[in-house]
Amino acid sequence: MNNYLEERCRIVDKALGGFLPTTKTRPATIHEAMRYSIFAGGKRLRPILCLASAEACGGNYEAALAPAAAVECIHTYSLIHDDLPCMDDDDLRRGMPTSHVKFGEGVAVLAGDALLTIAFEILAQVKATPRYDIGKFITELAVMSGSRHLIGGQILDLEGEGNDVTLNATQLKYIHESKTAALLTASIRLGGMTANATPAQLEALTIYGRSLGLAFQVIDDILDVTQTSEKLGKSAGKDEAKAKSTYPALFGLDKSRKEAARLTRKALEALKPFGRKGARLSDLAHYLLDRDY
Ligand code: IPE
Ligand code: IPE
Ligand code: MG
Ligand code: MG
Ligand code: MG
Repeated sequence: MNNYLEERCRIVDKALGGFLPTTKTRPATIHEAMRYSIFAGGKRLRPILCLASAEACGGNYEAALAPAAAVECIHTYSLIHDDLPCMDDDDLRRGMPTSHVKFGEGVAVLAGDALLTIAFEILAQVKATPRYDIGKFITELAVMSGSRHLIGGQILDLEGEGNDVTLNATQLKYIHESKTAALLTASIRLGGMTANATPAQLEALTIYGRSLGLAFQVIDDILDVTQTSEKLGKSAGKDEAKAKSTYPALFGLDKSRKEAARLTRKALEALKPFGRKGARLSDLAHYLLDRDY
């Protein structure tokens, strides 16, 4: 698994390097800031899932490189903005000072904006397939990163902050599905779409993505409590400090771990129709459940 992940990271990094303007492109500051956060050392899980989904549907990973790079740009923009003083106020990300610490808040906001925008420029380079024209690709990413999903979840996460608000399990699940599972699901569906996935395959990938994505945020919340900042490459213990609504805060660590395992089983179940072609997606689900950073 580790060799596979390393190899896939290299492929994704190479694609990102080619898609993003060089640091010499004018104005240099913005391109430096974009590349700084993109190449700070993320796990590249969304692009890797995108490539693996293309292969699960019988396609080639090469055809999925544009959507894979696009989702990583959206993800990285969302992290730059998530870390801003007006949001989670974090100074460490991917083991490096956050964008606003390194470049100042103005540049960090604009680097996020620029990554969000270039994501669609990159995605527009995808090759249409008989079932999916370029418009379907663009709409998928726009909807899942927009105000009804990723941004919607971030808003509710902000509003849910503070000791005086206690969210119930349904509200918390909704936030996690929106802020995190939606982009993971889009990454997976976009990969399938490059392989001209059948409606049944796309539906199976959607169920896999939603369960895996929700499990992913539950584990992120658990790691925030159980790991060190050094291990995570971002500041641990932040959720409690900010009185965020999280799974461990609501249910405790033990129940949260069980929930992550249950969601992962549900994700694995959805892969059955893919048979052996779904092996990588299944390995990735196991890996994400057991991860420690
Ligand atoms: C962190 O995502 C933010 C969440 C949505 C939980 P990752 O854990 O995938 O972060 P990187 O990309 O590896 O830095
Ligand atoms: C981040 O959730 C979700 C998005 C950026 C959309 P968190 O705030 O829990 O992510 P970390 O823990 O800072 O990486
Ligand atoms: Mg946040
Ligand atoms: Mg945060
Ligand atoms: Mg977190």
